[in-house]
This record gives sequence, C-alpha cells and structure tokens, in this order.
Amino acid sequence: MCGIIGYTTNKKDAVEIAIAGLKNLEYRGYDSSGIAYNDGKITMVKSKGKIANLDDKLKSLDTTSSIAIAHTRWATHGEPNETNAHPHKVGKVTLVHNGIIENYATLKEELIAKGYEFKSETDTEVATAYIDYCYATYSDKLKAIVEACKKIRGSYAFDIIFEDEPETIYSTRKDSPLIIGYGKDGNFAASDISAILSYTNKYSLIDESDVVRITKDNVTFYNSNLEEVKKEIKIADWDATQYQKNGYDHFMLKEIYEQPKVIQDIYTRFYNNCDYSDLDITSFEKIHIVACGSAMHAALVGKYLLQTYAKIPAMVEVASEYRYAEELITPKTLLIVVSQSGETADTLAALRLAKEKGAYVVGIVNAVGSTIAREVDKCIYTYAGPEIAVATTKGYTTQVAIFATLAINAMKKNNTLVNEEKIKSELLNVENVLNTIISNRELYLDIAQKIYTHNDVFFIGRGIDSAVCMEGSLKLKEISYTHSESYSAGELKHGTISLIEDGTPVIALATNDDLFEKTVSNLKETKARGAYSIFITTDNYKDYNFDEFADKVIMLHKTSEFLQPILVVVTLQLIAYEVAKLKGCDIDKPRNLAKSVTVE
Ligand code: M6R
Repeated sequence: MCGIIGYTTNKKDAVEIAIAGLKNLEYRGYDSSGIAYNDGKITMVKSKGKIANLDDKLKSLDTTSSIAIAHTRWATHGEPNETNAHPHKVGKVTLVHNGIIENYATLKEELIAKGYEFKSETDTEVATAYIDYCYATYSDKLKAIVEACKKIRGSYAFDIIFEDEPETIYSTRKDSPLIIGYGKDGNFAASDISAILSYTNKYSLIDESDVVRITKDNVTFYNSNLEEVKKEIKIADWDATQYQKNGYDHFMLKEIYEQPKVIQDIYTRFYNNCDYSDLDITSFEKIHIVACGSAMHAALVGKYLLQTYAKIPAMVEVASEYRYAEELITPKTLLIVVSQSGETADTLAALRLAKEKGAYVVGIVNAVGSTIAREVDKCIYTYAGPEIAVATTKGYTTQVAIFATLAINAMKKNNTLVNEEKIKSELLNVENVLNTIISNRELYLDIAQKIYTHNDVFFIGRGIDSAVCMEGSLKLKEISYTHSESYSAGELKHGTISLIEDGTPVIALATNDDLFEKTVSNLKETKARGAYSIFITTDNYKDYNFDEFADKVIMLHKTSEFLQPILVVVTLQLIAYEVAKLKGCDIDKPRNLAKSVTVE
C-alpha cells in the first residue's frame, strides 16, 4: 500500500531518478502520486491517477535538484486527489508516508489546539505536523522524529526533508517496509529494492524504529535511544530486468509463463538440498495456517494435502480473523503463515499474536528479507522472483508447491508415503507439463470469448478442486471485474443454484477420480437449468462422453494430487487473463487494489 522513495545525490538528477524508481513501486498503489524536491526551496508537485500524469506535469518544470522524495498512493484517509496526495508539508517538515496512523484523530485535535491547521483529510499530514511540532520543541531532528514516533500509533515508513537541511533525508519505519540503498552518486531510502535496482544492488534493512540520516555521501543509522548503530550491507540477487515485461503484454502474463521454471526449481531444491527437511510438522499438537487472499487459497490446498495424505489435521484461518481464535493458540501450536510479499499487515499481526502465545511460526514467503520473513521462527522461501502484477499467479502456485513438499516430508516421517518414486518423477517433470498447458492459449481464449459478456460466473468443485475454484474465481473477479462465486459442487443446490439462468457460465473442476461422478452430476444439475458448462478434468477420461453435460472441455495431464492443483489453476489464470483482455481491463493494476496490503 503506497510506495515511497527518497534520493539524495551529488548530481542534479534526483527528480528523474526518483520518478524512475517510483514507477517500479507503482504496483503498491496507483491512485495518485507526488514528489518534493529542492530547487532553491522545497517544491511539491502532485497528480491524481497514475505516475505517468505526474511525470507529464514535471516535464514543463525546472526539476534540477539533488534531492527528492516521492510517493505513489493507495488511498486510506481521504479520496485520491491532489490535496490528499503526498508529500505533505507542515512548517519545516515535508514527508512521504507508507502506512496508517491509527491515532491521527486524537493527535490532530491536540495539534489544532496548538494552532496547527490542516489542508487534507489524511493521517499523514497529521504525522507531518507532529514531527514539525516536536522539531520546534527539541530543535533536534533525530530527537524530534523519535519523540513524534513515540506518540504516533500505527504503521509507517517515512522519508522526511527538513526545510533548514534541504539536502538530507531522514527516514524511519515501523510495521511498513523501507530499505536503504547505496548508489554510486548518492543514497536511497525506498519501500523495496525494485525502486533502486537500476542504480544499485547494495542495500541495508532498517530495523523497527531506527532512524536513518541520509546524505549524498553518508548514511548513519541510529536506534531509538539515538545511539549510532552499524548495519550489514547486503547484495540483492534480483536484477533490474526481472522488473521489466521483457516482451510480454502484461506482467501477469510474464509471471504466468515463469511458473514452470520457478515451480520446477522448488522441487529440484526439495530433492537435492532442502533447507527445511529438519522441520518436523508432525511433532506439533495442532497446525494453524493463516494468510490473506490468494495466499489463503494456497493454504486451503495445503490443508487438504496435509489432512488427506499426511493425516495431519490443520485449521486455515483468514489472517484478519485469526485474533478471534486467540484462545486456540498454545506453545504446542505450529502456525504457518503464507505471504508472497511478506508485508501483509493482517498476516504479520497474526504471526506476532501467535509468537506472543508461544507458538512456533513458520513462514512461506517470497520476498526475501521482508518483515514476515524476518520475524518468523523459520522461513521457507518460495524464490518465485519479483511479482509485479497485482493479481498473484506464480506467488500462489509456488506456495502450493511448498505445501506439497511439506506434506510429502510429513508422510516420509510417518512412513506413509507410497509411490515415492512416481511422485518424485512427476514433480521433477513439472516444467514440461506446465509449459504444454500454458501453450494451449487458443483454448483459453475460446472459453473467454464465451464468458466475457456475462455478469456472473460460477466455479464448482469437490475436495481439493473446491479450494482451487476459490483461486480461479478470485483471479476472474479481480482482473476482469466479472462477478464470480466459487462453490463446493455439492453445496450449489442448497441455494445458489437459483442464480443459474440461460447461458450462465459454470466452470466445474473434476480432477479427483473418487469425486468425478459426483461433480459431473452437479454440473448436469446446472446444465439442466440452462448453464453454459465448462468442464476441466484429466486426460484419463479422454474416452468419456462429455457431450450431454459439457459445452467446453479442458483435459489436463493426469498427475498426482500433489501437483494437479497447480496444473488446473494455471488454466484458470489464463482464462481470467483472456477475459480481462477482452474486456479491456487494466490487467496489471486492477482498480481499487494494491499489491502489498500493509494496512489492517
Ligand atoms: O503478499 P501476500 O501473499 O500476503 O498477499 C495476500 C493477498 O493480499 C493477495 O494474495 C491478494 O489476494 C492478491 N491480489 C490476489 O491476487
């Protein structure tokens, strides 16, 4: 939610570089943006909509400056407009902010009583004013920031410029990501590495509540007691080309095509040098799996694999609801949190709660060095590489792939793994199989053409397919704005079937042999009521007579259930992609969404 970048340099191109970096953060929020720079005074330029609008405005201005702080917004307080866009300037302080100030209303009252006036509806302007007030009180910038942050409740990453030291950036963070980058001509403070990779791969992480003073040739870290602290300089192993579309029409499509390789890599690592083979999930009294959105859908597939095959019961909970299950968390609980970004606020809150209760917490995370990755007891990285499209694809499938390996490991521990060699050879052949599925683009386009004009689409399935339906439905909703629901196939007739009318598309998944006939019956029930039926199954049914109940059939390579969900979901991702394309939607940046949801 929101991306920030600050840059101070010994050259005069800070605005240009900050805007270029900001564009790489646009996936974090894109309803408005703004920049502050020093052209003899602190100048702020803001624009509603995408960063391209801001860029256009800047073209007609003199932007020669050796410092800039910039922001791309996902609105929380106040509608997206120029007044509410960042940076905000109050008194001597100009700042950009990613996060939410929870007690801003109280602080605002306090500040109004002291004579402050506010222009915007934002929580951020209040934080700016509070820092200004503390600066007026203490006449010391570091102390002002620390004291203000003691009063501010919520999450924040701030890049700050003080009017009387206009070539220096001060930064601090709590519960929102921020890194320091060390460039050849200057230094950065940005929400994530993608913003700065074209200029440097050297970075340091900022610990919670540290304050950093950044000049063009120096970076100094202080803890909240204002003692200087040393930080490790790390080298990022992601490179700038991974943040480009590289010839694909959309990041989402590129990321769909990257799946065969990154999933194959997971299984290759698992069978050759698995760094979590020592994790014995069978030794815990209970397992809770907690996540949001697609990561929660991956968790549902994981739960199914753990329960059905490893015979380990697991509870899946949406992260924002987990605190209401507080009494179930004990020191014998294993909590598995799942997060592509590693920054999702609800998931982070769940992990902190579980740690307070003494639970052992494992993270399945993509973003290396992210907050969740750093705070869990053990982190299993998915190594999917940067995911830019707001709708996750490889983020989700790599999470499912990790769950498959956890289930297999548990079965090995329980001595219940049969057909080990067959499963292994199937997993290690995933790249070929997935490439074949992805290459079948015409079929997905054909199906998309049949459904894109409809307002409602239903997904049905049983067992593990039911979990996969949830992800297929979410993909369609979020990128094509088509209303869609996902139902356990047997449940539809208990009410929702009343919504089926002539031509309503119903997509049924039937990949489990034991459940196949029942799902066929459920699809027939919708067909009898006029549905346009799309049936996704496996090629061991190639001689089956689909004609009487399926208008379209997708037949996928039959493989083990440890892999099958991934094969199915890739077809659903591509159907959603083609529908969104036919509808002319902004596929990589769907309306109202942001990639990284860092507010609760
Ligand atoms: O970064 P996370 O995996 O924690 O994100 C969780 C959800 O916000 C995310 O999966 C969201 O549902 C995506 N937009 C789905 O495509």
